[in-house]
Amino acid sequence: MLTSFPAGSQALVQGASRGIGLEFVRQLLAQPLVGRVFAGCRAPERADELVTLAANEPRLQVVPLDVTDETSIAQASATVAGMTDRLHLVVNCAGILHGGAASLAPEKRLADVRPEALAASFAVNAFGPLLVARHFERLLSHRERAVFASISARVGSIGDNRLGGWYAYRGAKAAQNMFTKTLAIEWARSRRNVACVALHPGTTDTGLSRPFQANVAPDKLFSPGRTVRQLLEVIDRLTPADTGRFYAWDGSEIPW
Ligand SMILES: NC(=O)c1ccc[n+]([C@@H]2O[C@H](COP(=O)([O-])OP(=O)(O)OC[C@H]3O[C@@H](n4cnc5c(N)ncnc54)[C@H](OP(=O)(O)O)[C@@H]3O)[C@@H](O)[C@H]2O)c1
Repeated sequence: MLTSFPAGSQALVQGASRGIGLEFVRQLLAQPLVGRVFAGCRAPERADELVTLAANEPRLQVVPLDVTDETSIAQASATVAGMTDRLHLVVNCAGILHGGAASLAPEKRLADVRPEALAASFAVNAFGPLLVARHFERLLSHRERAVFASISARVGSIGDNRLGGWYAYRGAKAAQNMFTKTLAIEWARSRRNVACVALHPGTTDTGLSRPFQANVAPDKLFSPGRTVRQLLEVIDRLTPADTGRFYAWDGSEIPW
């Protein structure tokens, strides 16, 4: 249960159509301290579970938001700003590892690297959370507790990279991490109420990890429910002193 946020807190989860993002929406709605949840989703017409949830839950507002389209991010921000003057929690969940329009496939070797795959991965994984910060910053401009959390991945850690491979995903997640750190430094001066962090969810049973689960021990493969419970505990414990850091699902710090 979240305990450190003000009563009636308002959250934005972007990348909320499925996987970890959809589960964040579900669990945030069950939090007594959360008053309203905005769910950013690039194609609501394909997000049946989210839309059904919203039809039965007046505290949930679905907002069209494609992180690769800056106009859509700006429109989403304007929509949310029309309904509230503040957010207390922003969770960036949109991410891509395989598939999509550029037919991403994690590279095993240099010869597999393709510019269009690099661009697609960076657009979603790295530029997405930064542009969301750019357009939603005004809603974090208040004096109450706020957290801006970007779901990253341990494979984006340069210090922790022991296996290599996965150039587009690793590179984009490393860039996402650098943007998070840079943003945290700026906000430590101008938005001191905001803890800005990167979070590693642990391997979670979603569409993103499904093709790569064969070598994952069953006790290391989390359900989305477990992952989000764990990440909400980490988020709840964050203080302004934690801003600019990269935390795993168990609260341990990951080297950049
Ligand atoms: N699952 C894992 O084991 C794992 C491990 C480490 C890190 N992560 C990270 O956790 C985050 C969530 O991943 P997941 O496992 O929940 O993946 P997922 O089930 O594949 O969900 C990915 C989400 O990203 C959204 N998305 C993709 N492109 C988008 C765009 N252009 N604009 C807006 N939304 C977009 C998808 O929306 P659509 O439905 O419209 O495609 C979907 O909601 C990602 O950042 C991922 O890198 C996951």
